[in-house]
Amino acid sequence: MGKTIIVSNRLPVKINEENGQLVFTPSEGGLATGLGSIYKEGDNIWIGWPGTTAETEQIQIDITEKLKELSLIPVFLRKEEVKRYYEGFSNEVLWPIFHYLSTYANYDYHNWLSYVQVNQKFADAILKQLNPGDTIWVHDYQLLLVPGLIRQQQPQVSIAYFNHIPFPSQELFRLIPWRKELLMGMLGADLLGFHTFDDVRHFLSAATHLLPVQADANRLRVENRIVLAEPFPMGIDSDKFSNLSKDPTVIQHIQNFKKNFADKKIVLSIDRLDYSKGIIERLNAFELLLEKNPEYLEKIILYMVVVPSRDSVPQYKLLKDEIDRLVGNIIARFRTFQWSPIAYFYHGYPIEIISALYNVADVCLVTPMRDGMNLVSKEYVASRNDNTGVLILSEMAGASKELNDALLVNPNNISEIRKALVSALNMPEDEMQDRMKAMRAVVFKFNIKHWVKIFMARIEDVKQMQRDSRAN
Ligand code: G6P
Repeated sequence: MGKTIIVSNRLPVKINEENGQLVFTPSEGGLATGLGSIYKEGDNIWIGWPGTTAETEQIQIDITEKLKELSLIPVFLRKEEVKRYYEGFSNEVLWPIFHYLSTYANYDYHNWLSYVQVNQKFADAILKQLNPGDTIWVHDYQLLLVPGLIRQQQPQVSIAYFNHIPFPSQELFRLIPWRKELLMGMLGADLLGFHTFDDVRHFLSAATHLLPVQADANRLRVENRIVLAEPFPMGIDSDKFSNLSKDPTVIQHIQNFKKNFADKKIVLSIDRLDYSKGIIERLNAFELLLEKNPEYLEKIILYMVVVPSRDSVPQYKLLKDEIDRLVGNIIARFRTFQWSPIAYFYHGYPIEIISALYNVADVCLVTPMRDGMNLVSKEYVASRNDNTGVLILSEMAGASKELNDALLVNPNNISEIRKALVSALNMPEDEMQDRMKAMRAVVFKFNIKHWVKIFMARIEDVKQMQRDSRAN
């Protein structure tokens, strides 16, 4: 049995420079926690971009050496590559198209060339580490060509790919000028994983419409090789969030929040800055609530955390300005001398603060326009050890397929969101408990460990199917 090579655009560490020293902090992201149990085992490794444009060769050597101790292998990107491959193609073509915002797409040929070249750079880094019997697991849309590039060099190797964002309807996907190359890249994998059944359906439809490949249910035949496309809804480290709620530091934060917001209902909103998250519509819905339900004036607070992200991409800058303007308008319109309706924060927080917020929030309002899964909704549920709290969740989040005891809303329907807020704020205790218990059962059973286990096992199954089909 060979090793597992995990590959993603970002490595699961943050690198900061403090007093001229490089400081490495393991990332708390869901994927890092989930795959932590794998990449730290035996000879397993994780390959990815360390997130810095380490300019000098010496810094690159220092980073490489330090990362090696953590089983991590860096792929360094030049400034131009960050601009074209990461910002330009990944986040100005693939991200908007995959989230159904085709008007945001910027089809720049040079950005595409950089995407091809950086995917090749990742493939080369993998090939350098590859031994017979190894399994390669590629993650997310920044690396769609990698499975195909590896397959060309190593026809027998086990390759899996997981798509962490939605896969769009083929009517959207086909708009991309390089759609066939992208699909061929993905089909280099033996197993393609998506969060939901709809994503799988869309992928199969794109592949069979745009390429000369045949599908039998979710099984494709690509140049005489079986490829499976299947849903694997990603879970979270539910125990971690449940335990954090009992952590003394978190309890201290909870008490402080409770003191500051005594007798106020807290509605929580946490996202990366992103137009896919529905932040503007959420603010509009909250404004509508204050307008139509004056009984909540001075009794409610929208605690809104927006984590900075991709702020060199033009659409993200525009969104930031729009959020600032709207928050300012709502506060100016409704605030009193004793109260402000929104507490708005534009930065990231340590996990202890996030956990405390999950614990004090009477309502968690998660209303993305499109979301592959949405882990915030699951983290909120896992944090509520006493089964209280209400989750309002967009139908357009992958998580809504599993958390159907949330109050489900169409994120474009601000009147429906307002009504859901009123229902949440008035929900009888026993209904709240029943809904939360049902959601917790799902989140704890289908946690990240379960996800990794079934995905890895399925890679073995496909390889067996391929062997069986060759033998027949
Ligand atoms: C989403 C994507 C990830 C990405 C993350 C943060 O969750 O699916 O692939 O890493 O956003 O975005 P960033 O561009 O900062 O890596």
